[in-house]
Amino acid sequence: MQAQVVIIGSGPSGLLLGQLLSQAGIDTLILERKSRDYVLGRIRAGVLEQGTVSLLEAAGVADRMHAEGEFHDGIELCFDGTRHRIDLSGLTGGKRVMVYGQTEVTRDLMDARSAAGFKTVYEAEDVQIHDFDSARPRVTYRHQGQNVEVHCDFIAGCDGYHGVCRASVPESALTTYERVYPFGWLGVLSHTPPVSDELIYSNHADGFALCSMRSRTLSRYYIQCSLDDDVAAWSDERFWDALRQRLDPEAAETLVTGPSIEKSIAPLRSFVAEPMRFGRLFLAGDAAHIVPPTGAKGLNLAASDVQYLSEALLRYYGEKDEAGINTYSERCLKRIWKAERFSWWMTSLLHKFPDTGPFGQKIQQAELDYLVRSTAASTALAENYVGLPFDFSD
Ligand code: APR
Ligand code: PHB
Repeated sequence: MQAQVVIIGSGPSGLLLGQLLSQAGIDTLILERKSRDYVLGRIRAGVLEQGTVSLLEAAGVADRMHAEGEFHDGIELCFDGTRHRIDLSGLTGGKRVMVYGQTEVTRDLMDARSAAGFKTVYEAEDVQIHDFDSARPRVTYRHQGQNVEVHCDFIAGCDGYHGVCRASVPESALTTYERVYPFGWLGVLSHTPPVSDELIYSNHADGFALCSMRSRTLSRYYIQCSLDDDVAAWSDERFWDALRQRLDPEAAETLVTGPSIEKSIAPLRSFVAEPMRFGRLFLAGDAAHIVPPTGAKGLNLAASDVQYLSEALLRYYGEKDEAGINTYSERCLKRIWKAERFSWWMTSLLHKFPDTGPFGQKIQQAELDYLVRSTAASTALAENYVGLPFDFSD
């Protein structure tokens, strides 16, 4: 078999790359380890930067997002029992974010790909990548009992943090940077109206809480929990009580509770692997970097990688110009480190850290108070939250 670009992974990175390349006439094949339903069952963040919205528009998959998603002009920070609004659009010259779940973005991309007849192999087993340091890479896998070999020009490693692509790069060629946080997030999805029109990020002595949403009838809430916590120990009632405790009195009073339809614990991690290109293999999205979810940068970073990679490959195929390919890693990493910094900073500001003690709490309170009173500080938050321009660092 042949394809110009073999994409490993059908998460948002792989699907978006596939869509941008395929619609430009480049022959792509996506290989995904899991089933379509399994991929669609994963619940992840739901805040899209303007750059991501524009890229989804360019990919021709924005109609349902515009019909069902919601633009948000602000967020709220809650501390000392009071909420303070950060006017995202007022502070950034009219920029705002789109609240639309990653699961829905994934579904829209999958639907567009199958409608256009571009090929994805789900449940591809034992995917292995070969010879990516040569001019003619290969990918092998097993599907429905058959062994398949595909020859290609390029391999895009869009296979997430646990994928095979980064793991196939010799250790000596990679530098990794990592911070693991000493807590997790316990998340609940429920068919209830959101507690507020905008997202609430709360710093509380019991720990962080976040009130988010997927629609006017579907809410997503999180509370900071211990890494030893077991989801089974968190009844719905215990979750709602803990969340209510971490909100201001008005939000606590208006919070509408109901049965959870999903409940899970996620660890928090910052991680970057450098570089992101090895000959004819490119890493994109979670395969190359992870951010803690505070600030919802994961999908948005995946989108900027994909923008740079699709530009680079279109330039290669269109003009036989390798400049985009050669600068891919450097361009991505400049933006990635800025988002890593922002996600780390928001995480540090809003969570309860077991080892920083009362001094750490006082510093957080001082910073939060400064943040909501200083236009300069609020602007820095707003500018990062709505998303730095894709080409900010060029
Ligand atoms: N072979 C084939 N597919 C694989 C393999 C493999 N060996 N290993 C992993 N995959 C698939 C996974 O099953 C998954 O569907 O690769 C896909 C990777 O998707 P994501 O983990 O969603 O990563 P990405 O597409 O980069 O999306 C980034 O997702 O995790 C969030 O916060 C992150 O929002 C960000 C976004
Ligand atoms: C979410 O809706 O799941 C969400 C929103 C904002 C975040 C993280 C997660 O910062």
